[in-house]
Amino acid sequence: RDTLGDLAAARHKYLGSATDNPQFADAAYLKILGKEFNSNTAGNALKWYATEPQRGVFDYTLSDQILNFARAHRQFFRGHTLIWHNQLPEWLTSGTWTAGELRAILKNHITQVVRHYRGKIPAWDVVNEAFNEDGTYRETLFYNTLGPGYIADALRWAHQADPQAKLYLNDYNIEAIGPKSDAYYNLVKSLKAQGVPVHGVGVQGHLALQFGYPTSLRDNLQRFADLGLDVAITELDIRMILPADDAKLATQAEWYGNVTKACLAVRRCVGITIWDYTDKYSWIPAFFPGEGAAHPYDENLLPKPAYYAIRAALRGR
Ligand code: G3I
Repeated sequence: RDTLGDLAAARHKYLGSATDNPQFADAAYLKILGKEFNSNTAGNALKWYATEPQRGVFDYTLSDQILNFARAHRQFFRGHTLIWHNQLPEWLTSGTWTAGELRAILKNHITQVVRHYRGKIPAWDVVNEAFNEDGTYRETLFYNTLGPGYIADALRWAHQADPQAKLYLNDYNIEAIGPKSDAYYNLVKSLKAQGVPVHGVGVQGHLALQFGYPTSLRDNLQRFADLGLDVAITELDIRMILPADDAKLATQAEWYGNVTKACLAVRRCVGITIWDYTDKYSWIPAFFPGEGAAHPYDENLLPKPAYYAIRAALRGR
């Protein structure tokens, strides 16, 4: 066998894809997902709105569908995500909570979900997107009500619920060294100094050709690794302004290769997850109108130059 996952495994890394429940109606898609990748994650199914749709009522139907597929195909699995300011359930966002109430809600959510999947989800994005671009804390419901200590608390609760799971902080626009990645660097350094269980930083990797390649990616990954943390590229995609053409697809391929090489160059970079492997199920056109073609397989599930560039990089070429 000679898939992306096999080539990555030979380099002691994973090469994964996110997926979502609607994709389970597409047999051709699932065949590639199960065969080509040695890691998987749920693009939406483990978010708070899905797992605790009513207060204290937990529903794992959607996440089980994806996790069961991953287990059947012997894939690694990343849990995404326990705390995020988006895709929260209505009951949570419409309520007014005291700090004590919100703390209890947060603790219960994390404890229930992580304990439910104890031993089955080896890595969790515990807090997603906690910082603004300038490195200040994002003023979310959690930050505004509880202050910055909610992050350390969340990590401790998750660790209690599954002591084996690797606990990550995860964000976008932290590929390069800059104010936002510096904020993570300082935070994880201080958390570690306080003995808070934090094990990794997830660099999402939502890149765009028009904004240029983050040339300090490798050095940035290395500085987190040097703090004694794992790093991962957790949501890779490389979009472009449409229409795609051969030149853009060639640049995109080069970038996919470069990201792969950056992870390979850092021993503690554990793997790369593409934020769904195909243009057919891309989140991008709905969020960035006029942009897309970001994934290594096209809308007909055929591999693009980017796919071959990832392979070549994994082979050390
Ligand atoms: O479930 C409803 C469905 O009932 C309804 O008919 C449909 C109509 O719009 O919407 C569905 O919800 C959508 C949901 O995905 C599930 O498909 C939302 O509209 C849509 O906004 C939501 O988008 C997700 C997005 O996060 C939300 O911010 C994307 O699929 C998901 O890929 C994306 O993932 C995020 C990561 O979690 C964090 N990092 C950034 C990344 C990209 O935005």
